[in-house]
Amino acid sequence: MTARVIDGKAFALALRDRVGAAVPAFQAATGRVPGLTVVIVGEDAASQVYVRAKGKATEAAGMASVTHRLPADTTQADLLALVTALNADEAVDGILVQLPLPRHIDESAVIDAIDPDKDVDGFHVVNSGRLAAGLPGLVPCTPLGCLMLLEDVLGDLSGLDAVVIGRSNIVGKPMAQLLTAKSCTVTIAHSRTRDLPAVCRRADILVAAVGRAEMIKADWVKPGATVIDVGINRIDADDPGGAGGTKLVGDVDFAGVSAVAGAITPVPGGVGPMTIAVLLRNTLVAAHLRAGLAPPAGL
Ligand code: GUN
Repeated sequence: MTARVIDGKAFALALRDRVGAAVPAFQAATGRVPGLTVVIVGEDAASQVYVRAKGKATEAAGMASVTHRLPADTTQADLLALVTALNADEAVDGILVQLPLPRHIDESAVIDAIDPDKDVDGFHVVNSGRLAAGLPGLVPCTPLGCLMLLEDVLGDLSGLDAVVIGRSNIVGKPMAQLLTAKSCTVTIAHSRTRDLPAVCRRADILVAAVGRAEMIKADWVKPGATVIDVGINRIDADDPGGAGGTKLVGDVDFAGVSAVAGAITPVPGGVGPMTIAVLLRNTLVAAHLRAGLAPPAGL
């Protein structure tokens, strides 16, 4: 079998278009556009790239984008004061504090200072609790994007065996909650799991979020399974006689697993583009809920 390659880039662009198309109606109803404010502390190069991409995508969707760039020696108290001011600012629907933060700042103290109704990352414990309890709330962007791709490929997920490798608060745990809510039978596997290949082979849906380049091999995958690769790992490019350099690969051995799986996300171009698209979706949803409006259908 040669797996269908899931085009996350195209899906993400279509979602971004749907978000952008819903902005004028929100503006007509409220007299303002939805607004996302991003806060970045320090000079981490990868974070700078992500934050620029988030700002550009927000503007492209017709929403208001503000970025606060703070120096690496910003105190926790000053950062908390900014978050408090953004919580009180009516023009701000979404607040995203880019992680990682410098080591002298307690990340969970900052995340939990964000108004849960503006927490478009879905990282606040109130939003984790809402997700666990099956209540409406803001859901972390990457796992929600994975779920959208899975439902696009498979339709109804009810009764399927899902294995999520990775138990982070940002991906693994919310992914497992979302799949449980869709009536999958869910296993969360991690670094202490015994016989991980055998556990993975049970999966109709395999979500890899471990951060280890090409760890999941063809003989770990049930024939016909749908494989979602959340990993983004930079490794040396192995082009013999080439100029060296690096390339991006996922947590899944794409070449090997493509011969066994039914469908698979590539890296790059799979899950990655979904994260920003869902961030825009979450901002639009947060704006509607804050304004007492029903979020548009089909998002
Ligand atoms: N750093 C890397 N990815 C993310 C993300 O999705 N949200 C935040 N806040 N920081 C990140």
